[in-house]
Amino acid sequence: MSKISIISGKSSEDLAKRLSKKLKANLVKSEVRVFPDGESKITLRGNLSKRKSVVVQSIYPPVDTNLVQALSLISKAKETSSEVIAVIPYMGYARQDREFLPGEIITMKVLAKLFKGVGASKIIAVDIHSVIGLKHFTIKSKNVTAIPDLVKYFKKLSLKNPLVVSPDQGGKNRAKEFAKKFESEYIVLEKKRDKKTGKVKIKTKNSDKVTNRDLILVDDMISTGESIIKATQFLKKQKCKKVYVACTHALLMNGAEKKIRKAGVTSIVSTNTIPGKTSVVDVSNTIAKAIM
Ligand code: R5P
Repeated sequence: MSKISIISGKSSEDLAKRLSKKLKANLVKSEVRVFPDGESKITLRGNLSKRKSVVVQSIYPPVDTNLVQALSLISKAKETSSEVIAVIPYMGYARQDREFLPGEIITMKVLAKLFKGVGASKIIAVDIHSVIGLKHFTIKSKNVTAIPDLVKYFKKLSLKNPLVVSPDQGGKNRAKEFAKKFESEYIVLEKKRDKKTGKVKIKTKNSDKVTNRDLILVDDMISTGESIIKATQFLKKQKCKKVYVACTHALLMNGAEKKIRKAGVTSIVSTNTIPGKTSVVDVSNTIAKAIM
């Protein structure tokens, strides 16, 4: 029996398989039946290490179902393994990390209690929306970044005088880090999101930096695509060349991919924290290093 078991949650099967190979760990698959009322019945297939289990389960839609499955797998693993690490490549609810408007519930605080309660001793996330989310955890936590993996991919493309762009101030450090590794300049747009309706506006005035250049819009995630669409429309008006998108988590809700392409984006490049058509960058190496 290997010293580590990798428990593959339904939402992260491919990533779990890659991790088990990299760590030479035994892969324990989970079988899930979701009943018509939405309840999940989960069965583990295989024996667990007494020492360490790693549960791999991203929390993308259906968010609450995938969350309960993650918690259930951790709880089950804890019955056998003395240490259980939760690898949550895409951390759903991470945007609910503070009280923006009075009365709002900080759901990340609730998640922190739940993960600890079921027996996780450490949580690992990839490019969590903001590290503030992890501050609510009283167990060990680690955020790893997929930026070097994304940069590696972009270095292989022949872009014309590329410029890295953050669609908002919140993504400034991300864009800065990307640009440093990519050895290019970067700019930051000013985005305003209505806290009640969620509608997005780009407030930046003209920017001559982008004219005639290929751009890489760098973001942690794409949900509805509104941020990327509004940024692309603005940048296209400034007569840029091609617009590429580099993001860690591509949720692409409600036909976002089609809408983003229609806005003029040449290509969306994302990682396999969320499996999908655009998820061409593998982050298993980065996660494996954080587990060891
Ligand atoms: C916001 O601060 C995030 O970094 C993303 O830009 C945002 O969550 C993406 O959401 P959407 O695609 O719905 O605009």
